[in-house]
Amino acid sequence: MSRDRHARRARALLAAAWAAALLAVPGGDAAVADHRTELERADLQRLTVLVTKEQPLRPPEYEPPDLVGWRDEPYQVRAEVSTQLERLFTAAERDGAPLRVVSGYRSFQTQAEVFDYWRRRHGEEVAERRSARPGHSEHQTGLAVDVDGSSGGCYLRQCFGDTEAGRWVARHAHRFGFVLSYPPDTLERTGYAYEPWHLRYVGPRLAGAMREQDIALLEDALRGPFGSALWGALLGRGH
Ligand code: DAL
Ligand code: ZN
Repeated sequence: MSRDRHARRARALLAAAWAAALLAVPGGDAAVADHRTELERADLQRLTVLVTKEQPLRPPEYEPPDLVGWRDEPYQVRAEVSTQLERLFTAAERDGAPLRVVSGYRSFQTQAEVFDYWRRRHGEEVAERRSARPGHSEHQTGLAVDVDGSSGGCYLRQCFGDTEAGRWVARHAHRFGFVLSYPPDTLERTGYAYEPWHLRYVGPRLAGAMREQDIALLEDALRGPFGSALWGALLGRGH
């Protein structure tokens, strides 16, 4: 077999494994049971929307349709994010790593203020690494939250990743549909410094498959040989 054919075959096998991981239904037959969440079924485009320095939200002033309050706290997230985050928090607490939300949905206007705060206080270069410009933040999708543990001292600091809570999040968040958008050593790719506190909801199917395939960044999951298998698997099942 030529090297090209070998490479094509390897890519096809990987894509098939990826699609299988996406369709894996715990304890059920994928052909008859559909355990996808509401957003996985009905709002996949928004659930998997890629928001980067280069790619703003469309429209830039986008507002999520179903924001709900997070507990009795001054934060909002999309309804399904709230449900899944509640499950994640319950599991974390049970494992001795209680968490709290410290930021949720941020409007275009709020994000403009956040970016401006960073720019005024720390200058343009630091601001670019720490904060998205308005229209470019995952927080504006209502799918992202920042979390902290109960120990204090690492609030929105990279040392959060070395705390009990930070380690729990990195290990378990995918089970509930969340991924770390800015993992260690991805500054060159994302333009942002490591943020162990920033969780982006993509749904349990995609988050699980990314973990299974060892794919850290959403943009890598959506593009390349895996992208088409992913869309085929998630969209092609007409339930
Ligand atoms: N801190 C992240 C990059 C944001 O502002 O959305
Ligand atoms: Zn964040």
